[in-house]
Amino acid sequence: MELGLVTLLRAAWVAAILPVVIALIPSSKISFFQKFVLGFAKRGKIMQSSSNKLSVPQKLFIHFYILAFVWTTLLLVATWLYDYCTMPKITEPLLFSSIASHLTGGSRIFSSHSSHTSKEHRSRIAVSIFLLLLMEAQVLRRLFESIYVFKYSPSARMHILGYLTGLFFYTAVPISLCCNHATEVYKFGLSLIQEFIVKGKDRMLATEVDWWRFLNPLIQLQWYSWIGAAIFFWGWIHQHRCHAILGSLRENRKDNDEYAVPYGDWFQYVSSPHYLAEIVVYAGFVVASGCSDLTIWLLWGFTVANLVLAAAETHRWYLHKFDNYPRNRFAIFPYVY
Ligand SMILES: NC(=O)c1ccc[n+]([C@@H]2O[C@H](COP(=O)([O-])OP(=O)(O)OC[C@H]3O[C@@H](n4cnc5c(N)ncnc54)[C@H](OP(=O)(O)O)[C@@H]3O)[C@@H](O)[C@H]2O)c1
Repeated sequence: MELGLVTLLRAAWVAAILPVVIALIPSSKISFFQKFVLGFAKRGKIMQSSSNKLSVPQKLFIHFYILAFVWTTLLLVATWLYDYCTMPKITEPLLFSSIASHLTGGSRIFSSHSSHTSKEHRSRIAVSIFLLLLMEAQVLRRLFESIYVFKYSPSARMHILGYLTGLFFYTAVPISLCCNHATEVYKFGLSLIQEFIVKGKDRMLATEVDWWRFLNPLIQLQWYSWIGAAIFFWGWIHQHRCHAILGSLRENRKDNDEYAVPYGDWFQYVSSPHYLAEIVVYAGFVVASGCSDLTIWLLWGFTVANLVLAAAETHRWYLHKFDNYPRNRFAIFPYVY
């Protein structure tokens, strides 16, 4: 079952990456295809008002973060609870086995004691919990910024397919971060709900919480997960600073439709530092997962392709719009592109 979900997610990421990567190939022979893909990817200032058909307001970005917050929280709580409840007590390995089996009504998922209590298996679950915690930090900040930092102009729009791609992205990312054991967690959740219905709230909550056991996933993380978290927060902080700069450009203006040249932080080097920071944030996931999970590489690949495409258009737009635009700025990667 896990293999089915993992394969499906990988296929979905490849299908999402391919058109964007093809559109990035600098060849006039495929200019029709490039325009076609860009038509869906454009939003805000780089979307011409003439292409407003089938579009929705750009401020609907907030839907992505509400969806991502609810979905990430659900997956995080379920995975953490699963880890907590199925962790064997060193002195009671056999008791654990029978409880786990009882919980699932003798399900095959928990009957293979050795495979589900192996150190490697537990450490993979710990990494998923950690990645979901990082994702929570990202979507909560983005939700806050969508409400309080950005001042979307009333005319800023995005293509309906871009909107649907956003909904796909924020559904697929959280599940990709924990897909290797999502089916186990799902079955465990179902059995817990069944037990809740049979036993009732009072008997279920009678168990005392063991905080050390609860925090165990964070204690057993490997060094690479902490390096990944450092990379994640490096991108996280700079993205917030760049968003604050963008939000401040309209602070003292009556007209919310006006654009200006942003300065400060990573804007000194590139035109779309908030996109670069997003790439750094998702690179943090790759490193925190030990660089060994193809699904997480693919989600990062989509983020890079998608944002490079948008950054190239944004850079062209700035150069065209402002005569005094700093010529030493690159589109997205300092000194490279
Ligand atoms: N992971 C992914 O694949 C993915 C995809 C898309 C977005 N994102 C992330 O979501 C965040 C927002 O993306 P976005 O494409 O909506 O960013 P954006 O087009 O740069 O817009 C962000 C906000 O800043 C305003 N703004 C931008 N440039 C401005 C300027 N020169 N002067 C005044 N205001 C300006 C926009 O105004 P208007 O309302 O007038 O446009 C909008 O309110 C980014 O950090 C990005 O990394 C990620």
